[in-house]
Amino acid sequence: MSINIAIDGPAGAGKSTIAKSVAKEFGFIYVDTGALYRAIAYYVLAQGRDVNNAEAVEKLLQNIVPELKYINGEQRVFLNGEDVSDKIRTPEVSMGASEVSVIPRVRDFLFSLQQKIAAENNVVMDGRDIGTVVLPNADVKIYLTASAEERAKRRHKELTENGEQVSFEEVLEDVNKRDYADMHREIAPLRQAEDAVLCDTTNVDLHGAVDMLINIIIEKTGVKEGGCPRKA
Ligand code: DC
Repeated sequence: MSINIAIDGPAGAGKSTIAKSVAKEFGFIYVDTGALYRAIAYYVLAQGRDVNNAEAVEKLLQNIVPELKYINGEQRVFLNGEDVSDKIRTPEVSMGASEVSVIPRVRDFLFSLQQKIAAENNVVMDGRDIGTVVLPNADVKIYLTASAEERAKRRHKELTENGEQVSFEEVLEDVNKRDYADMHREIAPLRQAEDAVLCDTTNVDLHGAVDMLINIIIEKTGVKEGGCPRKA
């Protein structure tokens, strides 16, 4: 049996950076499920279609083969054989991903792929519904959050470092809009699972947050850093 660590939380809470470091510590693979929703949004937008048109998006699903591959230990997202990992990081795709993610068939479409990866590997998987829907029996569930301003500050830094020209106000507005959409959608809304540990990183730096998670995982699973699974 593989070990599954589920990390959920709102956009910009540092999930990906923190989860990546934690996965490395334990020798687990890091699975960024948001990238799958982004890949779908990217495809729909590239086809010139409306991400809010559920019928059109559902039709396009049959043309989409999303895959996660691990190259030099790093997750890359492939869309019909093309590596789109870098192209899916724009604000337009972020918003589009949030919009396609409310479509039940889109969630179903990605559900089994996520479960299969978790069944076959020791994973740290991050998203919005991992502890609540995708991996309800995860060994450890963490709900990672921070204030909206702090999250917008971090996202803005990341985007400008990647050469995107966006103002802090635009990013904060996007963060608030996405929070609302992700938390209020009918299916698999973002919420803390009852058995998830709440970690607020507003005043904690990356190093501190990684330590916090490592300690929780060790305590809950008995797994050791460097990768010595409790169950083989
Ligand atoms: O984690 P992210 O910002 O890359 O995710 C992009 C969008 O995808 C997010 O706004 C909501 C959606 N998403 C989801 O609905 N369920 C997941 N498990 C992961 C992401």
